[in-house]
Amino acid sequence: MDNLLTMQRAQPAPPCTVVIFGASGDLAKRKLIPALYNLVACGQGMMPAKSAVLGFARREMSLDEFRKSAHDWTARFSRLKVDEGCWATFADGLDYLSGLDHPDGFTKLKVKLEAIEKARGLPPNRVYYLAIPPEAIGESVERLAQAGLISPPDAPNFSSVVVEKPIGHDLPSALEINRVLVKHLDESQIFRIDHYLGKETVQNLLVLRFSNNIFERLWGSRNVDHVQITVAEAEGVGNRAAFYDCAGALRDMVQNHILQTLSLLTMEAPVSLDATAITDAKLNVLRTLRPITPEHARATTVRARYGAGIDADGKPVAGYMDEPGVPDNSRAETFVALKTYIDNWRWSGVPFFIRTGKRMKRRASSIYVQFKDVPQILFNRDSAVPANALTIRIQPDEGFSFDVMTKRPGLDLVLQPVRMNLSYKTAFGDGASPDGYERLLLDVMDGDHTLFPSAQFVEKSWEFVQEILDSWSDGARVPMAEYPAGSWGPNEADELIGTAGRVWHEP
Ligand code: BG6
Repeated sequence: MDNLLTMQRAQPAPPCTVVIFGASGDLAKRKLIPALYNLVACGQGMMPAKSAVLGFARREMSLDEFRKSAHDWTARFSRLKVDEGCWATFADGLDYLSGLDHPDGFTKLKVKLEAIEKARGLPPNRVYYLAIPPEAIGESVERLAQAGLISPPDAPNFSSVVVEKPIGHDLPSALEINRVLVKHLDESQIFRIDHYLGKETVQNLLVLRFSNNIFERLWGSRNVDHVQITVAEAEGVGNRAAFYDCAGALRDMVQNHILQTLSLLTMEAPVSLDATAITDAKLNVLRTLRPITPEHARATTVRARYGAGIDADGKPVAGYMDEPGVPDNSRAETFVALKTYIDNWRWSGVPFFIRTGKRMKRRASSIYVQFKDVPQILFNRDSAVPANALTIRIQPDEGFSFDVMTKRPGLDLVLQPVRMNLSYKTAFGDGASPDGYERLLLDVMDGDHTLFPSAQFVEKSWEFVQEILDSWSDGARVPMAEYPAGSWGPNEADELIGTAGRVWHEP
């Protein structure tokens, strides 16, 4: 294709060992191992073949067992089909160590790492990926430091720590985690990961906005009527009730993925494309996000959980309270909807509607930007002409569409809305988008922080979410609503947007 502009080319990563803490957990199975395999297998040599991956967990497991289950997970969840030749190369560097919770577990980890590096001729470049619950992060970092497993930031070899979301359970615990992290690590060694920032369509928000003159000129309260962000999942809680029930949709999705997306969508142009400039621009959005206070919580938030219903494949499914592992006294919401504003010059007065939930009608995440009506003269005088809208489809069917009015060809003057559509699949081919984790793991190995939330962003987003949690805490101010599994959410969410004179756009 002509006119390709390569701004930054992904480089093969420096050889290293990736240690996955919590290697037998859900995240490692579904995302991390398959993503690392894809980096070896994608034929671009993004991860040098001699690099190693060490699973570190509590459970006793033989290396053969670990390799076999890693193969099964990858076969099930990988973007690329498993090629047995590539798998053999990857599996050769795959190792396992139990004893994460054992008093001398970290001493053993040190011995193991040195042995791997010696055997494979690897420099002591290490990525410690903490795929563990937030309450275990502080202790693991302390123990890494005590075991002498963190090299100084200016050492020739790197030690990087990746911290998974949620960072904390609330604002005080997030502050505490950040405090422990910076006690033992330099900011340049800390990667707070949010896999939404690795998604192609989320990265494309910057390109769409700042390399196309048309959108940026329309971006703001002069032209935009309102914005909707929907992150709908078809899956229920599955086997993650132990984690999910302590979190709920607000902590699990809004505090991180959705606020990240919102800030990229609405931030001012950063002064450059470097990590600090983008981080600052995003942080400024959160600084002006209107807090949801207890007095306004009822009118601006909805929380709900799914009841029994029919899933996206037409099968009857249980309600949240009947899912395995959900306690009878559960207070977790599986759906949340919010209305908020960004009180800055650009977005003053524009409502932002956000909703996310599990067991919704189908998996669909999108951003919908509705523009203002044309003046009520000419075509809009007697009958309303639908407004222009830009829909950015984050997943699936990545791409975007723009709704415009046109004259239908013919002798009559008939106006018809048409959708101009760009589908990534059609434009760039199937399977062109790497999984978010592939991109982000590569960035960690490269030491590139551009797509990673800063400590301030995490804290600021918790401040916003904490006020909502506090408003909900008495249980009565915003009662828990219910929606049937397989729907777009509770009636209360329709009312929330309806009282503002808008309707949800089907993503
Ligand atoms: C995770 C949440 O961060 O994101 C999960 O913990 C959720 O509950 C997942 O299912 C959604 O990610 P994706 O990439 O499937 O949209």
